[in-house]
Parts: sequence; structure tokens; C-alpha cells
Amino acid sequence: MPSQQLSSEENDGFSAKFPNIELREDANPAQHTPLYPSLARIGYVPDLELHQARLQSSRKRLQASGGVGNLPKEWPQVLQGPLVWSGSDLQTSNEWVYNFSEIDIKEIRSGLEHCKGLKLELSQVKKTSFPLPRLGRILEDLSSKLHNGRGFFILKGLDPKEFTREDNVILYLGISSYIAEQRGRQSHDGSLITHITDAVLSNTPRPERPSLYSNVAQPYHNDITPDILALYCLNSAISGGKNCIASSWTVYNELAATRLDIIRTLAENSWNTAGGFTPLKSHALLYNNSKGRPILNFSRRILTSNDNFPRTRDFSLFEPLTEAQAEALDAVNFTAVKHGLEINLLPGDMCFINNLALLHGRNAFEDSDESKRYFLRLWLRDPERAWDIPEGLRKVHDLVFQPQPDVEDHWDIDPYSAKGHELKSSTNCG
Ligand SMILES: [Fe+2]
Repeated sequence: MPSQQLSSEENDGFSAKFPNIELREDANPAQHTPLYPSLARIGYVPDLELHQARLQSSRKRLQASGGVGNLPKEWPQVLQGPLVWSGSDLQTSNEWVYNFSEIDIKEIRSGLEHCKGLKLELSQVKKTSFPLPRLGRILEDLSSKLHNGRGFFILKGLDPKEFTREDNVILYLGISSYIAEQRGRQSHDGSLITHITDAVLSNTPRPERPSLYSNVAQPYHNDITPDILALYCLNSAISGGKNCIASSWTVYNELAATRLDIIRTLAENSWNTAGGFTPLKSHALLYNNSKGRPILNFSRRILTSNDNFPRTRDFSLFEPLTEAQAEALDAVNFTAVKHGLEINLLPGDMCFINNLALLHGRNAFEDSDESKRYFLRLWLRDPERAWDIPEGLRKVHDLVFQPQPDVEDHWDIDPYSAKGHELKSSTNCG
């Protein structure tokens, strides 16, 4: 665990392995001067040993400099409410699962037939075109919990094999429209749905594919930047591939109680990202201007880069991460690991996550010929219940949800595993 104490013998080992860590000992904790390019100091895959070495170095530095200082002005010391949870609290509970009853399933089938009878474009599948007179009220209540409760829930009980590929998309849109009716584009070219699968039939070899389309683990992150992340599991892997989620508020509380300087680092307008929808200079990862609801929002990949998608080396545009930033990123990750909840999504499960309140990730997985992991992803927003978007996130948020004159929004209902797809672009998360 990240809070584990290190023996002096271990410290000596770390000093030898990470000699430059000691460079930061004399630094003022309020300053974050880049000491050296951090590309060599933090990777896409979090390194617990390196993080522990950084924590140990910081402990000494903070002791010498008189402590961690104060939180930014008007930031809460402790967040409270149902969004503050730890995986260990929820592991044995099923309060976050709603099982469709037979009546619900009948209603979904009836709504699907009604909707298909209208012969609409997929973008026109809405509450009014997909009637769920009884279940709809239950889903709207769950949407309230998504925005004001623990921040996630799972719907269970459908069998995707009973529906065609197109019907699965239509019923997904119909059901999700009661939770958050507005849909966001998930790529530069306006794709409104993403097929998450190890796309072995694509023309792009696995090592060159974005993590969404391969079988590697994804460390904790947020998607950039929908309000709600929805995942519909059409099939699961033969082994691995479990999703994990963690409350950003629980992470905040632990950091605010132990390392205020890390909260400050996350909140500073000093982060530069060169990937994703658009390059961003001098922005924060943590915001506190949504009616007292702090929002943590970052993609680890576009901060650290990974082997396939390196961060730009043009340091005049995008300076390397500082030591403090590298420590903060890993502190968020390992605190999320400590308090995370593993959710094993099975075929038919639909998971809805408040992406402004929760972090998510997934384990690596292996498919078999019979069982290939396959999820449909939507990015959603409920204009009535939505959290206020901080100014620093608005530019990217608008690219997702506001009309873009040069982009033609579209639905690809064929999976990217279809032969011939190129999958080298990497607009979105990871
Ligand atoms: Fe993601």
C-alpha cells in the first residue's frame, strides 16, 4: 500500500535505484520547479516502488520545511455525504445494483418495438420515442443517485444475445436516455459510440492500438470530459478485464488529511496536456467551483504518455511534469487503488458512472475464441441534474457536448474489430 512505511535498509536501496529523488529534498514544497524531464520519472503504468521512494523523500523534505501548509482558500477540509465511500464499504452490498424484473424486461422489449416502428435515426432515440412508463421513473430516480448519491450503479438482467447488434444499441440509447439524455461525441470525427474491445482484426497491430482497443490494463483515470460514462457489457473476457472505480472525494479526503501540498499541486493551473481532444496549457486537474463539489478530472495517458503515444518532446510548448506533479499523479492513483471497488461486469450489465466524481480503470485481460470482451461506451449528460462545469474544463467539455460546425456526428454500430479498421487515433481517455 502507498502508506506503507519503509525501513532504512529499503531507503538505502531506493536511494541507489532512484538517486535523483533526493534532488528535491531542499525544494520549497510550495514551488514546483522542474528538476529534470519527468518522462523517465513516471510512466503510464504506476510504479509503487518509485512512488514510495518519492513519499519517503517528501516526508523528510516536509519535516525540514515545517509541514504541508494550508489548503487553497475556500477548499473544504473534509468532504461528506454518500459520495464518500471506500470499496471495502460496498463490496458486500448490492445497493448499487438494480436487477430488471420480468415486467421491466417486457417494458424494454415493448419500448424497443415502439421505437423501431418509428424508423428514427439513432440520435432521435429519446425518452419520448422509447416509452418506459414504469421503469422510466425508476431509472430517473437512479439518475438522481448518480448525480447526488454514491455516483454509480449497475443495471442487470438483459441478455444481449437475445437482440441484434442494432437492437442492442437502440435499447441502450432508450434506457440511458432516462438517466442522461444528451450524448457526447467521443472523437475528433464525431463518433457518438465507442466499441471497447481488443480489436484483433483491425489493420493496426496491438502494440500500436490505443488501450481501448487492446487488452492492457488501464490505471485509474477519468474520461475527458463527459459528465456520465456509460458502459454496456455485450461480452466479457475469458480471464481478467474487471473494471474498477474509486470515489474522487474519498481520495480528496485522504490527501487533504495527510498531504495538503498534493491537493495544492493538483489544483494549480500548471498542468500541460498535449493529447486528447485539444492541447491544453496551464490548467488544473482538480477544481472547486461546482457548488462546493470538487471535481478531479484527468487522463493519465495524456499526462505521462505511454509507449505508443508519447508525450510531445517539444518542451517549449509542454514542459515535462515536475517531481511534485509526478508524485501527485501517483498519490491519486495509489489512494484510488486503496479505496477502489472492483466491479465484474457481465454480459447484459449496464454501468453508469459519474465521471466528474469517480475515477475508473480496468485490469488487463485475455480473450478466447469463444469469449471476447466487448463493451459499448456512451458519454452522457443530463442537463437538469448536471454538475456545473468548471471554467478550466469548459473548452474540452464543449468539444464533447456543444455543436461543432466542422464535425459530422455519426453512429458506428459495427465494431472496430471488423477487418480493415485503422485504430491509431487516440482522442480519448486512458
Ligand atoms: Fe476511461
